[in-house]
Amino acid sequence: MRTKIVHIGAQELTYEIRNIIQVADKLNEMGVEVYLENIGDPVTKGEKVPSWMKKIVSEFVMEDDSYGYSPTQGLLETRHFLADMNNSNGHCRITPDDIIFFNGLGDAITKVYGFLRRTARVITPSPTYTTHSSSEAAHAGLPPVCYPLDPDNNWFPDIDELRRRVKYNPAVAGILIINPDNPTGTVMPESILRKIVAIAEEFNLFIIADEIYQNLIYNGRKSKPLAAVIDDVPAISMKGISKELPWPGARCGWIEVYNAQKNSEFNTYIQTILGAKMVEVCSTTLPQKAFPHIIQHPKFQDHLEKRRLRYERFSSITYERLKKIPGILVNRADGAFYMSIVFEMSKINGRQSLPISNPEVRSLIENLIDVPKITPDKRFVYYMLGATGICLVPLSSFNTDLQGFRMTLLEPNERRFCQMIDTLEKGIKTYLNSAG
Ligand SMILES: Cc1ncc(COP(=O)(O)O)c(C=O)c1O
Repeated sequence: MRTKIVHIGAQELTYEIRNIIQVADKLNEMGVEVYLENIGDPVTKGEKVPSWMKKIVSEFVMEDDSYGYSPTQGLLETRHFLADMNNSNGHCRITPDDIIFFNGLGDAITKVYGFLRRTARVITPSPTYTTHSSSEAAHAGLPPVCYPLDPDNNWFPDIDELRRRVKYNPAVAGILIINPDNPTGTVMPESILRKIVAIAEEFNLFIIADEIYQNLIYNGRKSKPLAAVIDDVPAISMKGISKELPWPGARCGWIEVYNAQKNSEFNTYIQTILGAKMVEVCSTTLPQKAFPHIIQHPKFQDHLEKRRLRYERFSSITYERLKKIPGILVNRADGAFYMSIVFEMSKINGRQSLPISNPEVRSLIENLIDVPKITPDKRFVYYMLGATGICLVPLSSFNTDLQGFRMTLLEPNERRFCQMIDTLEKGIKTYLNSAG
């Protein structure tokens, strides 16, 4: 090329959650029954969309204006609905102008980081959902700046370490919270949220809170939305319908902006994000029309509660089965629908394996792991996929040096879920005890 064309952040953009599916597809073609434990899509995993929900959507499908563009920020009546819902809870007051719709939070995330000044950094949790850490790192053209979540303390953030890292890195302008969290399933209590808000206040930072799983909390855990604890700190809350309805194919999510008027620099940043959305025109119209009706439907709360109870139960089944295995650390998920399991560093290495009886599958897996510097957990994940068909995601691909894997609690069929856990348990034991 006459001049360099590759973006400074190109190498930061990886997404192992979807990379591994190409391997799973190949194994499927070779006749291996695959358990897709990698993707957080309840619908693809077989959760049934209730017929009352489909009926609401189908009624909007029959209206002509569902086929038109919507206003750039989103439909006014839907933004009114969301602002009223927030304000009626006594949270930090917002108006419809403080809400911007996006084509799913994936779109919101890339714009929120993409239009931040390149030298300003947002400190992200480690491990973290990679769409955040990769987009943030790509905007800066540098590796992510992060603070640790502690697997020995329920995956709660290490607050002292967060404060230290903020204090000694003047480039940090914002703090990301994901609550409930992907990939760990942890739910932050109000006291921790307040400590993070206090750090933001002390160092004059803004907060981004990804709250897409805010209504998927169980095991009796309690938390608060950011709007309830934010006081006067400038902040963005990210919300959406992908996980909660669930309707991920709608590509519909939004940001709620708190305290924009209290800080002119932050306000200009938000106006830039809105400008970027305007250049793109708008977000999907149909889901914006339908979802307020879905969440107000008399059957919605019951639908949500049933799903919470199932995740709670599957989280307990997994915890009780895996916690007995020596060499791994397991925390029960309290929210969202993921669990992250950590290997003790001394128990995993680059020499372990699982027996794979089909020679074609074995050769595919051995080729895949035969690359320099493959992490021990990626090697484990590939062997597990080849030997058992269980498709996990290596924990190290979530912006952490910890070795382990993330699984989901999404399989709707309890018998099949328990079979999968059975196979997983045996596979982990065999792998860790294999010639190492
Ligand atoms: C924490 C978190 N935020 C955002 C998203 C993406 O949401 P959307 O479907 O709205 O793009 C996901 C998807 O897994 C997620 O786990």
